[in-house]
Parts: sequence; C-alpha cells; structure tokens
Amino acid sequence: MLRYPVICIDGPSGAGKGTAAWRLAQALGYRLLDSGALYRIVGLKAFTAGLITADAQHPIDEVALSKLTQSLQITFQLNNDSGRVDIIVNDETIGEQVRNETVGGYASQVAVFPQVRQALLKLQQDMATRSGLVADGRDMGTVVFPDADAKIFLTASARARAERRVIQLINAGQIADFEAILTKIKERDDRDENRTAAPSKPAEDALLIDSSTLNADVVYQKIKAHCQAKGIYF
Ligand code: DC
Repeated sequence: MLRYPVICIDGPSGAGKGTAAWRLAQALGYRLLDSGALYRIVGLKAFTAGLITADAQHPIDEVALSKLTQSLQITFQLNNDSGRVDIIVNDETIGEQVRNETVGGYASQVAVFPQVRQALLKLQQDMATRSGLVADGRDMGTVVFPDADAKIFLTASARARAERRVIQLINAGQIADFEAILTKIKERDDRDENRTAAPSKPAEDALLIDSSTLNADVVYQKIKAHCQAKGIYF
C-alpha cells in the first residue's frame, strides 16, 4: 500500500502546536489532524450525558463512557471555504463549541480511559491513508503514528502558556484571571502526563522545542528545518 508522509507535533496545549501544524499543512498541501478535537467531542458528549462533572471529582461509569464513544459516528469532511477539515458527529458539524478551556478539561478527563483512546485510534490512522498528514496531539508520535517521518514535541513553560492565553482572552474582549488559568493549565498537564494510557510525552526520536521565549515564526522555521532534514520537501 502506498504510504503518505506523516509529521507529528505533540505537546501540551498553548505551546503553539495548532499554529505550526496549520502552517505546515498549508505549505505542504497535507491534511491536518487536530486529534484534541476528537477528545473534546467525546468530553462534551460525556458531559452532556451526565457521565462527567466539571470538577472532575466523581467516579466515571467506564462502561457507559465506552458505549457513548463507540456510538459516535465521526467523519471528516474537507471544507472548501475554510480549507480546513470539518469534523462531523452524527450529522452535526462540530466547530467552535468545543474550543474553550472548559471543554478542554472534559477532554482531558475522558482521554484517561484506554477504551476511549482505542475507539478513536483507527479513525486517526485512516487520516494518513489518502494524503500526507500533519497530526497534532499528545500521542501522535508515540502511539498513533510511531513510524511517522518527522516528530516534534513542542512545549513551553506553564507560565508562558498561561500568559499567551490571557493575551488571547483580552484581545477577544474577555476577562482573564492569570492565576486561575495557570492552575487549570497545570491540572490538565498533570492529568495528561501522568495517565497510564498514552501519556503525553516526547517520542524517543522527536525533536524537542521549548517555545517559551520563541515567536511562532521561529518555531515554524525550526520545525520546517527538521522536516527537511528528515527528507520532506517543501
Ligand atoms: O490539544 P487539545 O487541547 O485540544 O486537547 C484536549 C485534551 O484532549 C488534552 O488535554 C488531552 C486530550 N488529548 C489526548 O489525550 N490525546 C491527544 N492526541 C489529543 C488530546
């Protein structure tokens, strides 16, 4: 079977993965897999179904969560207007309603469960069967695409990520509480890095980049140079 190139960008939220992955996919004409969106969808559906709580303090019915995940009909569809891949769940296009910190927390809660991860695995791997792929997540290079052509682990200090988030919120005309944001970021990092199933960590052959003091363009150039060194041509 013809194998298309795969580039993995893993790391915690707010490190700049999404921006770099999007630019890379545009430059190469590859598809983009935002794997976090899949976990966000499961998290939101689980919350709506009453299976998880916002404070993450209650035990989760794993059987019900597993059934719910398996019942979701998730497909990807290229949106010709935005150039992005829309995620369709049970005939509903999922957009901005999953892109907030609250749903990020739900995603992190459900992502702990191996049954949830397993149910989403093939869907993610199938994204690489029709074109080159840039995959953004936590376990792209370690679990989903262990044979990827280039792997990057992009991180930044929790404070730097919280500062970026505060600036984003202020620019969007919203109120931002730095300490509250920092606490949430640390909670999510802790859960994502210390779970047993596919914890967030660099693959052995990943290039590590700390973006705490780098701008998005410098990060992109470093990633591009790494991909070129791995035989991917721009
Ligand atoms: O990248 P993101 O912020 O959209 O991800 C939301 C949550 O989903 C993240 O805190 C952990 C989980 N996740 C995961 O476990 N594995 C992935 N490949 C992507 C996200």
